[in-house]
Amino acid sequence: MLSVIEPMTSTHARDMSFMDSLRKGDFSRSVLRAALLVRDEGQQELFALARQRRSECFPAEEVEARSVVEISNVCQQGCHYCSMAKGSGIKRYVMKPEAVVEMADFLYQRGRRVMLLQSGENQSKAWIEACTKIVSEMKQNHPDQELILCLGNLSEAQYVKLKEAGADRYILKFESSVKRLYEMWKPTDTMEERLRCLKMLVDIGFKTGSGNMVGMPGQTIDDIIDDLICMGEFDLTMNSCTVFIPGEACGYRDEPIGDVDFAFNLMALMRIMFPNRLMPTTSCLERCRPGGQFIGLMAGANTVTIHDGTPENYKAMFPIYSTKRFAPGNDHLLDAVANAKMTISTHPLQ
Ligand code: 5AD
Repeated sequence: MLSVIEPMTSTHARDMSFMDSLRKGDFSRSVLRAALLVRDEGQQELFALARQRRSECFPAEEVEARSVVEISNVCQQGCHYCSMAKGSGIKRYVMKPEAVVEMADFLYQRGRRVMLLQSGENQSKAWIEACTKIVSEMKQNHPDQELILCLGNLSEAQYVKLKEAGADRYILKFESSVKRLYEMWKPTDTMEERLRCLKMLVDIGFKTGSGNMVGMPGQTIDDIIDDLICMGEFDLTMNSCTVFIPGEACGYRDEPIGDVDFAFNLMALMRIMFPNRLMPTTSCLERCRPGGQFIGLMAGANTVTIHDGTPENYKAMFPIYSTKRFAPGNDHLLDAVANAKMTISTHPLQ
């Protein structure tokens, strides 16, 4: 006898069997591949498991809010995906240390307890001395203001100096764990050097974040799986991913934009595999799909970056992703957080 219902049910069960594997902690490549590819109702199931894991580790359902100050766009690297690459022709700036410290103070008064200082990569002695001064003054003024740095590859002595000055965390994305891709996208750097820096940061005692980009030129699903495995090889406290946006001023400006669904699924997998790490819902998700940052929260994210720390005149000169960067306003982010049934925490979540 032919049954109409039977074969459909068993096909669905077979397609979704990766969910049982994920629940049991089986993160084999075939399971990760199926999870990265799932869409529609299956994708919602994946997100629900991610939220369950987040609730187990972060029962308060809070989102860590950080203010970012983009302290300089000077960069020594020539990454093809980045509009601030050396030689991109954009106007350069460096904020005065006093202005950064004042901004941190202003935001502290308004309740902000987590600050992110971000810049292009610049290993010059004068620059790292300026950063060290900023860090030590910020921490002297407000020891309970958690300070995250994102300044790229530096020497061990420079990382130690910044740590001793009081910085709490450091974000250094490995971008891709696949040598072929890393060196294609970042021809002025090597993957070995990047991973060496990442290991130094962990060993020095920073709470360290890292992650990748998805939807990049030449990248396959297998490469994204390698990135997930790489995230597990370091003792990280934060994970992140962005989706490729072809900025108008970058070398890859004519390449297609990345598929944001891979980023959402990757985020859900990061939450399921590394449940107690912090993970941002980034503005590039919103740029790829209206409501994207809300979806990021539904896929397990628990941090947001508020763009209220960079002076207006510098904002356009820090074209991360694109010169038309979507910088979500506070209200928009607050709505996304409320819709995800979460609340904003100005206090550090770790
Ligand atoms: N598209 C997506 N992500 C990007 N990043 C930089 N440029 C792009 C882009 N065009 C990411 C990198 C970098 C972080 C600050 O932003 O991962 O480390």
